[in-house]
Amino acid sequence: MEVTVQPSHGLKGELSIPPDKSISHRALIIGAISSGVSVIRNISCAEDPLSTRSCLEALGVLIEDFPGGVKIPGRGLRGLKMPSSSLNAGNSGTTMRMLTAVLAGQAFESVLIGDDSLSRRPMKRIIEPLRAMGAGVFGTDTHTAPIRIFPVHALHSIRYELPVPSAQVKSAVLLAGLYADGETTVAEQYPTRDHTERYLGLTVEKHGSRRNARVSGGFQPEAREMEIPGDFSAAAFFIAAALALPGSEIVIGNLGLNPTRIGLLDILLRMGGCVDIIDMRMSGGEPVGDIRVKSSPLKNLKVSGDVIPNVIDEIPVLALAATAGEGVFEVREAGDLRNKESDRIAAVVHTLRSLGVDVEEYEDGFAFEGPASLRGGVPLKSYRDHRIAMANAIAALRADGPTNVCDAECVAISFPGFWEEMTRMST
Ligand code: S3P
Repeated sequence: MEVTVQPSHGLKGELSIPPDKSISHRALIIGAISSGVSVIRNISCAEDPLSTRSCLEALGVLIEDFPGGVKIPGRGLRGLKMPSSSLNAGNSGTTMRMLTAVLAGQAFESVLIGDDSLSRRPMKRIIEPLRAMGAGVFGTDTHTAPIRIFPVHALHSIRYELPVPSAQVKSAVLLAGLYADGETTVAEQYPTRDHTERYLGLTVEKHGSRRNARVSGGFQPEAREMEIPGDFSAAAFFIAAALALPGSEIVIGNLGLNPTRIGLLDILLRMGGCVDIIDMRMSGGEPVGDIRVKSSPLKNLKVSGDVIPNVIDEIPVLALAATAGEGVFEVREAGDLRNKESDRIAAVVHTLRSLGVDVEEYEDGFAFEGPASLRGGVPLKSYRDHRIAMANAIAALRADGPTNVCDAECVAISFPGFWEEMTRMST
């Protein structure tokens, strides 16, 4: 499906954002292995968390809907049931990587599969540490899905230094640590999103930017009641667009503002963006707030180093908003963007070139000079990647004519109402 985006004179109004996708995955998975019934309000019904849900249902978890949320009757650490066929994680890396760890602790054999994109993504990053813990986890010869998981007598605790900053890998090792025979520690040099640690209430030692998260083998999580905040990574498209489009003023309520997720805000503030946090509070162990964003002249800069993990999902839209900024915008040390739902460095570079921007591509990033006027009319490819489709839509709002965005339906992976919200708010 293609959507035609009309040039915009600014975004106005209050945005309705979907519940946080990362926290929704964790609530479902940890709820399933908890003792007792978890009550989770405002859970995401985007396609990725629905993949997690359907895998858990195939594992015997009887998830019940109520208006605005779900009840998850936990089956305890080792109480999942053997599925009757392969478990399909769809497009979702978080589903596959976190579930592999939980399945490694069960007493039955299972297989996790995914769609074409997920079947190409690197799984060695979880297979290696899980195997070091004694797990019977096997990928293909090229370390991709399908992943086969065989039961083992016991998992062993480990001290694991993350070789790539990845919250999915950290979460997989911590979840496997629940099934291990001692204390498991995951050390990270650059902090990645910490929703798993918060959800499980784990001890985290901080030494400067380094983090050591620990989990005790045999620790049985208890059911929780919580309301999931709005997804910062979904709001990011509108925050970036509102700053870049003159005449914009938007408000976003009940937004997750976990410090490990809001690298984009820090960068936009350094670029001169006008973003006010109106009210900060805690909800379900996560920082939440309301924000107001007004269009502002932006000064471009270089993004690299320890901020990258905290802005990794937002780099495509940040880059496209930076076409409105003054000076050189450069992203480096972000090579892992090539391992996402699509090669997001190649995708952003292709979009920028399609819009007439002169951009330099590097193995680990890209650079261009702004402000750049964007030539509309050329269809923008999305590579069936939800974040690329939404970033393309934001670029199209700045273009000088109507512009088609391809694979428009894939936004439902994380933000089912995206096109309606964009049309409603664009003036
Ligand atoms: C996620 C972690 C990040 C992020 C992804 C969601 C999570 O991936 O890109 O969208 O929920 O843990 P990596 O851990 O691969 O960096």
